[in-house]
Amino acid sequence: MRTEGGPRPAASPDPLAGRRILVAITGSIAAVKMPLVVSALAKRGAQVRCVLTASAASLVSPVALASLSRHQCYLDADQWCHQAPRPLHVELAEWAELVLVAPLSATSLGRWVHGLADTLLASTLLATEAPVVAAAAMNTSMWQAPPVQGNWQALQGFGRVLALGPAAGLLACDRQGDGRMAEPEQLLLALESLALWGWQRDWQGLTLLVSAGPTREALDPARFLSNGSTGLMGVLLAQAARLRGASVQLVHGPLQVHPGLLEGLLCTPVQTAAQMQAALSAAQGQVDAIAMAAAVADHRRVEPLARKLSKQELGELWVEGWEQVPDLLAGLVASRPPGQAILGFAAHSGDGLAAAREKLSRKGCDWLFANPIDQPDAGFGSPTNQGWLLGPGGQDIQLQPASKLAIAHQLLTALRPPGPLPGHRVLPRAEANP
Ligand code: CTP
Repeated sequence: MRTEGGPRPAASPDPLAGRRILVAITGSIAAVKMPLVVSALAKRGAQVRCVLTASAASLVSPVALASLSRHQCYLDADQWCHQAPRPLHVELAEWAELVLVAPLSATSLGRWVHGLADTLLASTLLATEAPVVAAAAMNTSMWQAPPVQGNWQALQGFGRVLALGPAAGLLACDRQGDGRMAEPEQLLLALESLALWGWQRDWQGLTLLVSAGPTREALDPARFLSNGSTGLMGVLLAQAARLRGASVQLVHGPLQVHPGLLEGLLCTPVQTAAQMQAALSAAQGQVDAIAMAAAVADHRRVEPLARKLSKQELGELWVEGWEQVPDLLAGLVASRPPGQAILGFAAHSGDGLAAAREKLSRKGCDWLFANPIDQPDAGFGSPTNQGWLLGPGGQDIQLQPASKLAIAHQLLTALRPPGPLPGHRVLPRAEANP
């Protein structure tokens, strides 16, 4: 927390800054998106090395990747060199802290799963012990072919692999269907999640309902009452749960986040608090947990006006004709089925801890995350957050400034049903660049 008049706390580090990340690119047309991913990683302070199959090198320029990663880009011809004391695939495999295989083609998937080490990329994947994000991309029929599906299933059993299946959409072969590589924002998110949390799927088999973003309450056909919530915290909470294995439903007001961040979530967009309440009530019976991150409007017009008001009329509007929006969170708590865990949020300015404690007991949820919106590294739209997580039995847990994804993981650990995590491993903090 910032102390009055004292020094500003150091901005929380980017979980990818300083990480050694190997980007492995195979022969699918989605390879053309990878220079942007490599550029984004380099800008975030990661050390990046790229390795390409021969097919990938015919689709995307190794020269561009070398330039964007600020390092030589590796091809099959580099694997064996009489001047190198150790095989390149072993050097790269041991150097990497995190590996991103994207796009992952049917051929490279098959090589990997069946242990064939006949390219530099395939040998490196087999030799590395680092956690891997793998994003498949191919033609729909290839993806649906039984041998590919069998290989994909086998990959799920690899443990330290976070496998991102292809999304549906228009493919380069002009077909509409499953096969698109996960969006670049998803690849970066998955890497960040792997660095922060590891690959454990402790939410596997569980369902989470998340609300995010503001609501909009109409005044007249042209104007509405809303707030500055972007929805980023709720969206990242939803994605972190998905990457930990949960099925996630997101009910959201108008968001200001990259659309790529919504991939993989079952989304119900709404505008008003009444629509949000209806969507949440409809979903409540099917979920194990709820996280109410939405910034619901506090007041609304009893009757929104059917015609646009003049300036004069608008000035008179504030006096009467208003009602309080019902408390959605308290309503969900009142109607929850046994065993359903509920997390509320409380955005505050100034010292909000005492008010948050009162809010937790008033609303009756299990957990309440109280976060400031008047600190430099927290609040609406900020990539970072901090605050207090208040829980059952008077637990007050201070969450230090960190990326919103890191905060999301901490909240999910509190909210998930209790139980040990077998073999859970989180990467140590990145060391200084050698
Ligand atoms: N919330 C809700 N329905 C509302 C208002 C808030 O479900 N009409 C939820 C929010 O999604 C959040 C929690 O209640 O999870 C706390 O929201 P906050 O705005 O801090 O609390 P309010 O109840 O609006 O209290 P106040 O503004 O008076 O502090």
